[in-house]
Amino acid sequence: RILIVDYGSQYTQLIARRIREAGVYSEIHPCTRPTDELAALNPDGVILSGGPCSVYDDYAPELDPELLRLTRDDGSPVPVLGICYGLQSMAHIAGGAVEGAERREFGRATLRIPNETRTDALLEGIPDGSTVWMSHGDHLTALPDGYTVLARTENAPIAAVRHTDRPHFGVQFHPEVVHTDYGAQLLENFALRICGCEGAWSPASFVETQVEALREQVGDQHVILGLSGGVDSSVAAALLHKAIGDQLHCIFVNNGLLRKGEWMQVQDTFRGHFNMDLRAVDASDRFLDALEGVDDPEEKRTRIGNTFIDVFTAETDALAQDLGTRPAFLAQGTLYPDVIESVSFKGPSVTIKTHHNVGGLPEELGFELLEPFRELFKDEVRAIGELLNVPSSIVNRHPFPGPGLAIRIMGEVTRERLATVRAADAIFIEELRAHDLYDEVWQALAVLLPVQTVGVMGDERTYEHVCALRAVTSVDGMTADWAHLPHDMLGHTANRIVNEVRGINRATYDITSKPPGTIEWE
Ligand code: XMP
Repeated sequence: RILIVDYGSQYTQLIARRIREAGVYSEIHPCTRPTDELAALNPDGVILSGGPCSVYDDYAPELDPELLRLTRDDGSPVPVLGICYGLQSMAHIAGGAVEGAERREFGRATLRIPNETRTDALLEGIPDGSTVWMSHGDHLTALPDGYTVLARTENAPIAAVRHTDRPHFGVQFHPEVVHTDYGAQLLENFALRICGCEGAWSPASFVETQVEALREQVGDQHVILGLSGGVDSSVAAALLHKAIGDQLHCIFVNNGLLRKGEWMQVQDTFRGHFNMDLRAVDASDRFLDALEGVDDPEEKRTRIGNTFIDVFTAETDALAQDLGTRPAFLAQGTLYPDVIESVSFKGPSVTIKTHHNVGGLPEELGFELLEPFRELFKDEVRAIGELLNVPSSIVNRHPFPGPGLAIRIMGEVTRERLATVRAADAIFIEELRAHDLYDEVWQALAVLLPVQTVGVMGDERTYEHVCALRAVTSVDGMTADWAHLPHDMLGHTANRIVNEVRGINRATYDITSKPPGTIEWE
């Protein structure tokens, strides 16, 4: 495995993904983690990420020299690759000179590789003159002892380096971003050629080992899983079903806030297609009653969350009665980005953020957790879903928030407003599919506004609500851009919504990016 030490770069997760794409398992750890803990993981290689600091900042995270002296079981040194800040901190502790560049360098640069270093293992297969992506303030101006230059760019005379005796490498540019033409090749060179990893990690090998591991862990006990119909819980159900068959029991709660058709589709898929033990509980009235009179977004979330826990607990008790034993495990589709501990630098202090999203179920329920995807990224889970025959309508589904349509109705949630926003949402999604645009956007939604506007239909004046449409492109939901949907498609969708959905007489399109906006309106 390859360990990625995070110095706070916005690109750290991309490094892990590129290494995985090379077929090598990788993990991210915060730079504050002690070296002996990292050593205990027996890494085949270490990558030091970029970061927002300058090595001269008072609060700059320091590289522990011991990290450059790790050895593998056979006594050989563990290879290290420093990227941007990672390179600068390697150079800094070895006596090199790091300086603020006269101008900070962001964007494309041309990588020049002299003939004599072209065959270096790190640069194999990378032609002279390819594009690399720079994003830095400081750069290296003098090499520390023992290092040689492998490549340069116009503004960075030291763009790639290696140590002459030890397998220590560094690059000033960012090989992990797609704008660096041969970045994936460089990271693959590091993982396969320099670290000697095998490159055998794949979704198929993951399924094979997880199925065995889950069988062993679960034994003859029972497992429950809260199915939402989203990608993560659906693929987790398919994986567990493959591993333990009838010992898996899924609970699917209708909170009354689902999209059009979802309640039936999830049941058809998991009962019909997979023949799983699916307990579908229609608790719509309980949720909608709990939401009466509430218009604060966080209060909506709290009430929905609490009602979910009550319904889920009651259903689990009923299941235990039927089985004559209590399920020992609770399975969840938690993903790697939910559990990564990432570092962030706020002025002089470094904070560690954990993003653990517990899916709304408290620990007191007393189950042992099964989280087979806690080391995976979403696209990897999608690939596994395809392998496991989960229908593409589920595998490629847009993310949908737990509180559902409730946070897409501004103000109080009523049955009538739900019907209105659900109908508008269904038309928007239908039109995206009809125009082959569904898979091009990360998420698309309709929001019902508590604002009424004047319109005219036929000879009649109308005074109805406004609906806002929002579609965004994103890779992880953390940042997003509004989707540049074709005007004709938007016009047609708006027209259909105003004509077909009672209670809406105007539609608008939201062109705010995130940040500063969020994807949802509440
Ligand atoms: P925002 O609106 O924060 O959303 O830009 C980012 C992503 O998270 C989803 N989201 C939620 N998911 N419970 C969830 O399970 C929530 O309360 C919630 N709020 C937002 C949102 O749909 C988007 O994919």
